[in-house]
Amino acid sequence: MSKKPVRVAVTGAAGQIGYALLFRIASGEMLGKDQPVILQLLELPIEKAQEALRGVMMELEDCAFPLLAGMEAHSDPMTAFKDTDYALLVGARPRGPGMERADLLAANAQIFTAQGKALNAVASRDVKVLVVGNPANTNAYIAMKSAPDLKPGNFTAMLRLDHNRAASQIAAKTGKPVSAIKKLAVWGNHSPTMYADYRFATIDGASVKETINDQVWNQDVFLPTVGKRGAAIIAARGVSSAASAANAAIDHMRDWALGTNGEWVTMGVPSNGEYGIPKDVMFGFPVTCANGEYKIVEGLPIDEFSQACIDKTLAELIGERDGVQHLL
Ligand code: NAD
Ligand code: LMR
Repeated sequence: MSKKPVRVAVTGAAGQIGYALLFRIASGEMLGKDQPVILQLLELPIEKAQEALRGVMMELEDCAFPLLAGMEAHSDPMTAFKDTDYALLVGARPRGPGMERADLLAANAQIFTAQGKALNAVASRDVKVLVVGNPANTNAYIAMKSAPDLKPGNFTAMLRLDHNRAASQIAAKTGKPVSAIKKLAVWGNHSPTMYADYRFATIDGASVKETINDQVWNQDVFLPTVGKRGAAIIAARGVSSAASAANAAIDHMRDWALGTNGEWVTMGVPSNGEYGIPKDVMFGFPVTCANGEYKIVEGLPIDEFSQACIDKTLAELIGERDGVQHLL
């Protein structure tokens, strides 16, 4: 017997990440090749955005995806999130000319407060929420705080792009395939302060740290390359990463829903005090996933260098949190 369709809401559906994401969700790459989906697509209530969304939906229709059991266009989160099982919050206010970080935080606080409230009111009680729109960790924190009737653990932020970027850099450095790398972790904020940590990682079973054996490369090449990769792509392409961001979103949701078979992945999740991170801060942690739940990998030793990196990215997140607290 075929499975019952699940509802997947995507915001910013007519944007560039949306365009790289929706076709893959509809083809079964996110939730499995046996899982029908209904797409509930949210765009701004302005004609240009809604018209662009209509075009994307025409293309989705033209793919004749067997798993696409329905799709809807919305301009209001209260209808877009109705009964949704998965919500990918991609749409966000980009930083405009002359806009300070505080202005960006405030503009996004409005969006994610409204979307958190709507999820609280109408989404499935087990909804899995992934925030992609930047600043992703703080937007996820805002949405979580605006949804008091949902469990904090329903809300996550996307650190998977940083994780995948780190894996690719290690693969290139060691000349091994990315599939050989296990136990990689990225701590903290999706920003240049993130701390990609390969101390526990193995490659074909051997220690990555011992194989590379070069702390100067770690500090001066690896961490800046991964941390500033988003800016490097904007400089090269003129627009921000889209296909790789959509790919990371698919990876994040697939692993959360279908499990990681004991492998570590990175997710931005609300802290319960693990590693001294204050409760509810939306922080990148190594996790494993099983039965639709994630679990933070606990008990890892944190050395002095790592602690300093974690403190730095945490300080940035606390600053962002404090900057929006009065708006919640
Ligand atoms: P984009 O500008 O191409 O598309 C964004 C879309 O969102 C637009 O179509 C816009 O109309 C829509 N939108 C804006 N506000 C909305 C709202 N309140 N409700 C519904 N729709 C809304 O941008 P993009 O390239 O698709 O990127 C989207 C976001 O993802 C940006 O914030 C970007 O910085 C972020 N991003 C995050 C990561 C990550 O790793 N977390 C990586 C890349 C990009
Ligand atoms: C990325 O990491 O590629 C993006 O978050 C960059 C950005 O500012 O949109």
